[in-house]
Amino acid sequence: MNKSMKYEVWEKLAHKYNRLWVQKYSLRPTRREVLKIVLPLLEKNKNARILEIGCGTGQLIREISRKYGNVRYLGIDVAENMIKIARTSNTAPNLKFTVCPIERFSSGDRFDIIICTHAFPYFPDKEGALRKIAGLCAENAGIVMVQSSTNDLKDLIINFFLKATTSKAKYPSIKEMRRLFAGAGLKVKRIGVIRERRYMPTIALFYLGVQK
Ligand SMILES: C[S@@+](CC[C@H](N)C(=O)[O-])C[C@H]1O[C@@H](n2cnc3c(N)ncnc32)[C@H](O)[C@@H]1O
Repeated sequence: MNKSMKYEVWEKLAHKYNRLWVQKYSLRPTRREVLKIVLPLLEKNKNARILEIGCGTGQLIREISRKYGNVRYLGIDVAENMIKIARTSNTAPNLKFTVCPIERFSSGDRFDIIICTHAFPYFPDKEGALRKIAGLCAENAGIVMVQSSTNDLKDLIINFFLKATTSKAKYPSIKEMRRLFAGAGLKVKRIGVIRERRYMPTIALFYLGVQK
């Protein structure tokens, strides 16, 4: 399968992404919880360099840059249509966007904050992606990841249906994520669960650092 076929669903979803019903019960609450971690980090370091992996239409950086207009930000996403919308709604020169899958991304820069929300389940090489994230971290970097997670039968059923609307996906359990983090040299600082509605799957939030 070539790249465009593999990720076609994201290209097609892009134009309606900001109006999807999951915005209300999953994506918006996720941004709210991510901001609770990221804004205090920016308060301490206003020059922080942020990398967002699977940035979609750039909704999160839009909210961050309302308060911290000078952040140095790079958003990457495999879907060109997502990036086009992200660029249109974030035009400041310090906010950069690149069409690139995580598996091909490399940078000489090191980042103080790395964010990845609702994108990791779609990465084909999960171990490789986490090792890459660890390698992109500046000293004392904070990493925030949020994603659907399969921890019980209810999660299994809901995520089965979720998977039908996305590119090829695997929603690892919290236990499995802990194992993957340890393997990549990432240290878990905090794990939380976002649950706005009972019919939503477990949405796990991981706040991480790099093992010294
Ligand atoms: C559910 S959306 C999440 C977007 C945004 N982070 C949010 O929380 O609303 C998943 C995003 O991951 C992107 N994505 C999927 N696989 C990817 C990969 N291998 N590398 C980079 N981005 C990827 C998709 O194009 C899509 O924009």
